[in-house]
Amino acid sequence: MTADDEIKSSVASRILSHGGRILEIGTGPGGGFMPAILKHDPDASVTISDLSPTVVRQWKHFLDRTLHSPNLSYAVFNFCDIPFRDESFDVVSDGGGIGNTEQGSRASALREVYRILKPDGILVTSTGFVTRETLAALPESAQSVLKEKRPDIFEDLYEDTVLAGFSRIESFICGGWDTDGDDSTIADLARSLGVNLHFTSYIRFCFK
Ligand SMILES: C[S@@+](CC[C@H](N)C(=O)[O-])C[C@H]1O[C@@H](n2cnc3c(N)ncnc32)[C@H](O)[C@@H]1O
Repeated sequence: MTADDEIKSSVASRILSHGGRILEIGTGPGGGFMPAILKHDPDASVTISDLSPTVVRQWKHFLDRTLHSPNLSYAVFNFCDIPFRDESFDVVSDGGGIGNTEQGSRASALREVYRILKPDGILVTSTGFVTRETLAALPESAQSVLKEKRPDIFEDLYEDTVLAGFSRIESFICGGWDTDGDDSTIADLARSLGVNLHFTSYIRFCFK
C-alpha cells in the first residue's frame, strides 16, 4: 500500500464511522475517496458524481460489473449548483474536485456543499496549495509572474470554508507534490519560469 492509499483508507474509515448517505463530488478518473470507501464497505450508500458525463458513465460501467451494489447511484452536475435539496447528505467527500473547480468558483462550491449537508454532516476535502514560505524561496521575477497569473494557487480555501458556514474545521497536512514531471498548465508555467513549484497537500474535515 502506498502512503496515499493508507491516508485514503484511514479517511474512508472515518467517513464510514460517520455513516449515512455519502456524495462523492468531482469523482474524476481517480475516484477521490470513493474506491477506498467501497473497499472498506461495499454496501455503503454512495452517489458518484462529476461534471463530466464520461467519467460518471465509466464508473457506472466498472462498478456495475465489479460490485453489483444496489446502494450506488450516479449523477452528472456542477457542484457549484448542486441539484439536491437542502440537508440531503450526511457526508460529502471530495478528493481534489473543489481544488480544481471548473465552470464556477471554489467559494460557491463550498457554499453548495454546506447547503446540501444535513445539520450534523461533514465535508471531507483534500487539495493542495503553494505556501507563503515556498513562494518566498522563489526568485522574485517568478514570484511576481505567479502572483499575477495564478493567484489561486496560494489560496488554502480556509477563509472560504468558514464563510460557507462550517463551524469547525480540522486540517491535516499530508505530503505534497512538485510541478517537475507534471503536465498541468501550472507545471508548464513553472517550467517557463525555470522553477519547480512545491504544492502542500491537506485533508480537511469540515463540520456543519
Ligand atoms: C483533477 S480531477 C481530480 C479529482 C478526482 N477526484 C480524482 O481522484 O481523480 C477534478 C475533477 O473535478 C471535476 N470538476 C471540476 N469542476 C467541477 C464542477 N464545477 N462540478 C463537478 N465536477 C467538477 C472534473 O471534471 C474532474 O473530474
